[in-house]
Amino acid sequence: MGRVFVAGSINMDVVATAERHPRIGETVAGEAVFYFPGGKGANQAVASAKQGVPTTLVGRLGADAFGQELRTFLAAQGVDLAFVKDTDNMHSGTAIITIADADNTIVVVPGANGLVDADDVAAPALAKGDVAVSQFEIPLPTIAAFFKRARIAGATTVLNPAPAKPADKALLDLVDILILNETELGFLTGTELSDGDPPARFAEAARSLAQGRTICVTLGKRGVLALADGEPLLVPGREVKAVDTTGAGDCFVGALASQLAGSKALRDALTYANVAASICVQRMGAAPSMPTAEEVSAVLSSRRPGEGRDP
Ligand code: RIB
Repeated sequence: MGRVFVAGSINMDVVATAERHPRIGETVAGEAVFYFPGGKGANQAVASAKQGVPTTLVGRLGADAFGQELRTFLAAQGVDLAFVKDTDNMHSGTAIITIADADNTIVVVPGANGLVDADDVAAPALAKGDVAVSQFEIPLPTIAAFFKRARIAGATTVLNPAPAKPADKALLDLVDILILNETELGFLTGTELSDGDPPARFAEAARSLAQGRTICVTLGKRGVLALADGEPLLVPGREVKAVDTTGAGDCFVGALASQLAGSKALRDALTYANVAASICVQRMGAAPSMPTAEEVSAVLSSRRPGEGRDP
């Protein structure tokens, strides 16, 4: 079995729940406040580690109380933190999140995540069969350096270009599997997309990014549309009652990476990751809501034959 290496952000999520989101200039009364471990890199690493796959996180924490709490939490989830550095004179990444009616708004302040550099990602030794994962909450040149090393080692590179920002072709050329939602797909392709669009429209936009790589477009409760070797593959979502969608995309990415490290076929890996994300959205918080392998397997084995397959 390969291993999963995630180079990415680690945040403390400061979460306020309210009946509705405030409009600009407005104040609304909140209901509760929570401090949840988060950050796209950490969330993806936890999602992978909880599937029982050896998972290493590469990143930075501030030398502060949040940093200590995050380190303790991540170690308890089984994530290898040998390449997570404490950084003096910088705070840990912090996300300010508002949740109302299961939907969130997020402001991320990168702190130490903004200092993850090429030397940091050069430290772990990757090998053939490993999966190298990153997202856009650490500097883009660092991601390019990480993927260059991964490619030389024969590892598979997986990019989740979130939050959306302009990425140059040289970086995208280092990516084997691109996992993105419809907003990020619209941004990277310069296409107007909305979540009600038919799958064929997403497939058409994804095709312009494919160029030999696999594209997975996560469509929330509608499931995931993948384009592999030019062929579209739709894996429907699972109807569940969501309480908090924060980290659901990260759960999908981490769970998918874990399955690819175990050499699973793409369709099976997508089905698995879809189920993992459907469990994640039924719980509050990002990293703490990642399901275990046993929880995902229980849902998969309770399905009727054919359920969750292409319509
Ligand atoms: O994808 C969800 C994550 O985005 C949150 O955990 C928050 O930290 C932001 O990075």
